[in-house]
Amino acid sequence: MSKNISNLSGRIGLKKNLFEKISERSLNSKDSSGIKEIANEYHMGVSTIHGAESFYEFLRPSHRAKKAFVCNGSACMCSGTQEPLKKKLKEKLGNDKVGEMFCLGHCYENKAFHYDGENYAGNDIDKIDEIIKGEKIEQEKFFSKSFASTSFLMDDKLSNLDQFKDILSKFINMDKQEIIKSLLDSNLTGRGGAGFPAGMKWDFCRKAESEKKYVICNADEGDSGAFSDRYLLEDQPLKVLFGMIICGYVIGSDEGVLYIRGEYPKSIEAINGCINSLKKEGLLGKNILGTSFSFDLNICIGQGAYICGEETALIASIEGRRAEVDVRPPFPVTEGLYKKPTVVNNVETLAAATGILINGSEKFSAIGNKKSAGTKLVCFDSFFNNPGVYEVEMGTPMKKVLNDIGGGFKEPVKALQIGGPLGGVIPIEEAEKLNLDFQEFTDAGFMLGHASIVSIPKDFPMVEYIHHLFEFSAEESCGKCFPGRLGSYRGKEMFDQAKNKTAKIPLKLLNELLVTMKKGCLCALCGAIPSPIMNILKYFGDEMKDDMVKDN
Ligand SMILES: Cc1cc2nc3c(=O)[nH]c(=O)nc-3n(C[C@H](O)[C@H](O)[C@H](O)COP(=O)(O)O)c2cc1C
Ligand code: SF4
Repeated sequence: MSKNISNLSGRIGLKKNLFEKISERSLNSKDSSGIKEIANEYHMGVSTIHGAESFYEFLRPSHRAKKAFVCNGSACMCSGTQEPLKKKLKEKLGNDKVGEMFCLGHCYENKAFHYDGENYAGNDIDKIDEIIKGEKIEQEKFFSKSFASTSFLMDDKLSNLDQFKDILSKFINMDKQEIIKSLLDSNLTGRGGAGFPAGMKWDFCRKAESEKKYVICNADEGDSGAFSDRYLLEDQPLKVLFGMIICGYVIGSDEGVLYIRGEYPKSIEAINGCINSLKKEGLLGKNILGTSFSFDLNICIGQGAYICGEETALIASIEGRRAEVDVRPPFPVTEGLYKKPTVVNNVETLAAATGILINGSEKFSAIGNKKSAGTKLVCFDSFFNNPGVYEVEMGTPMKKVLNDIGGGFKEPVKALQIGGPLGGVIPIEEAEKLNLDFQEFTDAGFMLGHASIVSIPKDFPMVEYIHHLFEFSAEESCGKCFPGRLGSYRGKEMFDQAKNKTAKIPLKLLNELLVTMKKGCLCALCGAIPSPIMNILKYFGDEMKDDMVKDN
């Protein structure tokens, strides 16, 4: 059935993609008018269109009835700024007009909220009257700096169209195997979480036989604490787009798409502007720079579903299906978007590929080790003395990362959640024993992931933190697999009761639930959420002993 929908959706393709059609209809109408017409145009049932539409938070009538949305990501929650912010917004806009959104990527300043298509944070709330009147206000930017001996991600070697033209003309006339070899030699692994070697992924897709192939940039950065993809999309858009175009050249694709989360309006604007400029200069489109290579780029705007960061759910989303996770294999490199061979890469992977081609693979592979090579963007939240996004060499001791680059903490912090909601929760002392290294983190029972860091202050109750994690997976689970769908809710219920002091947590049952989710879930959303919870039980169990009963 889902294969059928992919094929039907693929007949019309990316230019008028079904997801965009569904989103547009839903955002511009108060009833179900227009659904039948879309169903007819795409030769699908009305229930298929309705099923897809009802999946997304932003397309729900209850969401659309609200005016402002307060960030409920982990960093904003730990900062304690969001309840007073919500109160202030409710006073201005009405009690029923303020909702929530998961992580707006302003973890370095907090007090984040979304109003009328724009994000605000920090002291912006003091100008709420001007914001409501539609006036443009001066906003603070995140701080960014490279600490690498060679910068691959933050330098200015690809910051204007002339540079772009020169570098593009060099690489689209180069032997494709040579480009793949460069990526393989660099030891670049995917920065989106799974850590698959980028050169190998491009090579598999290049070898797949098909007249049509796609390149997808996964810009659905939903991990709380992470704003590194946002940095690249807004401050280094040419590096990201160059990575996509070269990937297209290497694998034999003429079309790509950036799936950018709707929570990042400035990123969408920046990329859109950049694509238009490239088109105007003939650096995108037919026969680029007089060669036989043609490539075009599209943007798909996410509608508020964290699971769309998972590559098969992302593909389902673009195709206009419900964004449920698909079983792999087949992997996207052989059967991806519209069932055609597709490379799905994270924003940072694509920008790093560009940096490697410009600076040379040997410089990248010389940093760190084979499994954790090159540089990585690391994000610090507002508890750090130096909040912002930094380029750091892999292998750097975490003690240095946290205390020298991050500048240590403004107030006592007991643990860090590194790598988003699915990453580990690490006591500070344990974090300081590690180096910035994917494998080391995994071996120690944690996960480096996208290297976002959320600080959990000393007085923040861990029962509340676990509740937040279960609530997150219950809200964001795609519902496809039974242990994920039910397990997240059962966990949330246990911690609802503990938080409200109506019942203690049955520890044995909780452990059984966590093991079941870890072993039985189809993907790493509900399947990895047990990891940080197990970390908390291991390192902070004592703090919660009055909330637990051992034998139940
Ligand atoms: C629940 C879940 C959420 C994910 N979210 C993202 C995301 O926001 N961005 C991303 O690039 N990869 C995300 N991934 C990983 C993707 O599935 C995929 O591995 C990645 O986009 C591949 O790109 P890479 O090889 O460049 O890392 C997520 C995976 C899971 C299981
Ligand atoms: S683990 Fe959760 S998000 Fe993943 S397939 Fe199962 S229900 Fe969906």
